[in-house]
Formats: sequence, structure tokens, C-alpha cells
Amino acid sequence: MQHIKQYVNDNKQRLLDELFELLRFPSVSADPKYKADVLKTADYVAQKLRDAGADKVEVCPTAGYPIVYGEKIIDASKPTVLVYGHYDVQPADPLELWKTPPFEPTVRDGKIYARGACDDKGQFYMHVKAFELMMQTETLPCNIKFMIEGEEEVGSSNLGIFVKENKERLKADVVLISDTSMISMENPSLETGLRGLSYLEVEVTGPNRDLHSGVYGGAVANPATILAKMIASLHDENNHIAIPGFYNDVIDLTPAERTALNNAPYNEEEYKKDLDVEELWGEKGYTTFERTGTRPTLEVNGIWGGYIGEGAKTVLPSKASAKISMRLVPNQTSEKITELFTKHFLSIAPKTVKVKVTPHHGGEPAVTPTDSIAYRAAQKAIAESFGKDPIPTRGGGSIPIVALFEAELGLKTVLMGFGLDSDALHSPNEKYDIYNYYKGIETIPLFHKYFAQLSE
Ligand code: BES
Ligand code: MN
Ligand code: MN
Repeated sequence: MQHIKQYVNDNKQRLLDELFELLRFPSVSADPKYKADVLKTADYVAQKLRDAGADKVEVCPTAGYPIVYGEKIIDASKPTVLVYGHYDVQPADPLELWKTPPFEPTVRDGKIYARGACDDKGQFYMHVKAFELMMQTETLPCNIKFMIEGEEEVGSSNLGIFVKENKERLKADVVLISDTSMISMENPSLETGLRGLSYLEVEVTGPNRDLHSGVYGGAVANPATILAKMIASLHDENNHIAIPGFYNDVIDLTPAERTALNNAPYNEEEYKKDLDVEELWGEKGYTTFERTGTRPTLEVNGIWGGYIGEGAKTVLPSKASAKISMRLVPNQTSEKITELFTKHFLSIAPKTVKVKVTPHHGGEPAVTPTDSIAYRAAQKAIAESFGKDPIPTRGGGSIPIVALFEAELGLKTVLMGFGLDSDALHSPNEKYDIYNYYKGIETIPLFHKYFAQLSE
């Protein structure tokens, strides 16, 4: 542990400067306008892997953005850890809500503010620097492979193909990912599951053109009103999802699992205060942890139609649309849920409108084992570096590749994230605590050490 602290201390400023350089690339995968920047980011990551001591570093082309690969094989008889992360980020919009520009990392109050600071540049880069540390101090105890992709925030659609075509190259004993959150720095935790995702767009069309809302209003169905009603009917009075068959495949937690999950520290007053809401909302019969970690949900991510410009325009819109996502839990599949949603949504459409449902990306849920050598290594690493045993939690977000790693490569994952839910992932003013960044760089070598030790 001493050599680790020493190394981080001796290189403090440089470790931060390099992350800042990475954060300055606007690698927004969703917006083609940033294509050149996303590609430059991949090259930067590749160069940093080479500088840190990785061999066979390659920027592997895909039908979309490239995957950066690199490895260090010290001894074929030693175990191999596959580190996964993503160098792409979410769009920074709405820009006017950022206190400082999203791609000019700025430190305030010990925190780095920038798009991608936590999700996932700040987090995957800790692995690159922890690897450098182990190389420089000659303490790398196992083989390591890096796979850093550029399309996570848009559904990783080309990564599945890459994994299928590179089974040999990606051979490993475990996948290690830092792209999730902890409860708090005082209450370190390890996520032991991720939800799946089914994402769709719906469009409701009424009359064949926008109409004067005085001349036609009252005689023709307004697609915006119809869409609002259809969406509102998707939850019942207990906030259960009212799509027939939606819960059929859900595996309920055992009472013991529920108790364990709800034992994690949680302060509802602080939670509400942080979000500035008077009351929480959710499925009846479940706690907040259960609602976000173990229960499926349905959310409207965006809704539009008609006039949304300055001032007032009296118009009955011809069309109204919404983007809807459903988070899925183990045993549900995105394909089946997409089908159930589509069938139901079309069935509740009144004759006054036409409805179109278009599926976007999907992803499968995953649970990660808590009785494996790798999980124990993560537990030990965190206990040593935080002075406290990590609490197992279930994450509400999705990393679709985790289920794919298991299905295609038979690989289990450890989710050793160092972010916080309050880091404003995907929101304006995303941040990552400098403390967490260094803490991660210090904890990761301990994971490798214990993983190699326990594997013997
Ligand atoms: N890192 C997040 C997922 C995450 C965040 C998991 C916090 C657990 C805790 C990831 O980058 C992400 O945002 N995933 C998307 C899904 C993807 C298919 C667009 C998500 O969860 O919305
Ligand atoms: Mn992420
Ligand atoms: Mn994300």
C-alpha cells in the first residue's frame, strides 16, 4: 500500500492534468457533428495506454466508433483481468445550465466539473493510471487487457460484433468495470447488478396537417392530448406498469435479499432535499432502493408536439411524439418487453389517431456474483483502501455489455465504481471528486493484487 500512496503522491499533478486533457475532447457519440473529436479521443486513449506500458495497442475500427484495445501479458499461467470502459460521453445539452463549459474541465470545491468527468472518462482513466503505477513500481501481479469503447452512450451496437469476432483476444478470467456509483465515500459499496433497457419512440398522428385550434379544435382529436392520455394510462393507481404480461418474467427477491438490500444506509430527507422534491413517487409496496435497483420501470424521456417556440401560437398539432424507456430486471428480455409494449400501445390507440412505435436500442439486465474470487478481491481492496467493508447494492443504470460478456465469453463482471449518484451523470454540471479519482487509482492495484493472490 505504501508504494501505491507514494506513487500517486509523487505524480499527483500529472495524473490530474492528463485526465483534464482527456476531458477536453468533446467525444459525444450521439451527435455526428463530433465525429472527428470522438476519433481523436480514441487515438489519445491508445497513446496513453502505450505510454503506460501496454502492448499490442490498437484502435480497432467497427461500423461505428473504434474500440481501443491494449494488453500486458506477464505470464500465461497467471489470471487475466479484462478492463472495460467507454471514452464516449452523453451530449452536454442544455448548455446554458452549465456553470462552466462542459469541455473545459474546471475544479470547484475539490471537484472536477466536465462532461464525462465521472461517466466514464474519470473512471476508466483511473485504470490506465493504476496500470501505469503497477508497471512503474513493478507490481503488476496478473495479466491485464483493456477494451475501451466509444459507443456505450448510444447502445454499444457494434461492440457485440467485436466481442463475437475477438473471442480469443478477449479471453480473460474476469471483467472489471468502473462505471457505476457508490453510496457515499463514507459508505463504500459495490453494485451487484444492472438493469436492462428497452427504448422506443412513439408517434401519434391526428389530422393530416396542423390546424387552427379555434376553427377545428373541439371537433378533431388533438394528438398531443391523446398521447398524454395514452402515456398516463401506462401506470395504474399504484404506479404499477399497466402493460399486460409486463411483470411475468420478473424474479422476485427473497425476503432475505430484500432485507439485505434495505439495510444499506439511506436518508430519505436528504434524498428529497438534493432533488428539491416534496414527495417521492414509485411502485407501491417497494422501497426506494428496490424501486431503482430491483424493479422494472417505465419513463418518458422526452415528449413533444405542436408549437414550442416563443409566445403563443394557436394550433392543433398534426403529430405528437415521445421517447419512452423501460428499465428491466433479471429474467426480463428487451425483445419481449419491446414486443409487449408495442402490442399494448397500439391496442389502446383510439380510432381518432394513427400510432407508430419505433424501437431504438435495447440491453439485457445482469446480476454479478458475490461469492466469486473476483468479488472477494474487490471487497478486500475496498476494505483496505476505505477502511470499511463495501455494501452490496443493485444499480439502476444499464451497461448492456455486461450481459453480453457473460453470454458470449462466459465472463462474470465486477462493478467497482467510484462515482456518486449525485455526480450528475448525463446532467448539466457533471462532476467527479478529485479525491475519488485518486482513491480509485489507489484501490485498483489492490484489486489486482488480491485477485492474483486468491486465484492461486
Ligand atoms: N455508466 C452508465 C450506467 C450506470 C450509471 C450504471 C450509474 C450504474 C450507475 C452508462 O454510461 C449509461 O449511462 N448507460 C445508459 C444505457 C445505454 C444503453 C445508453 C443508461 O443507463 O441509461
Ligand atoms: Mn458509463
Ligand atoms: Mn452514461
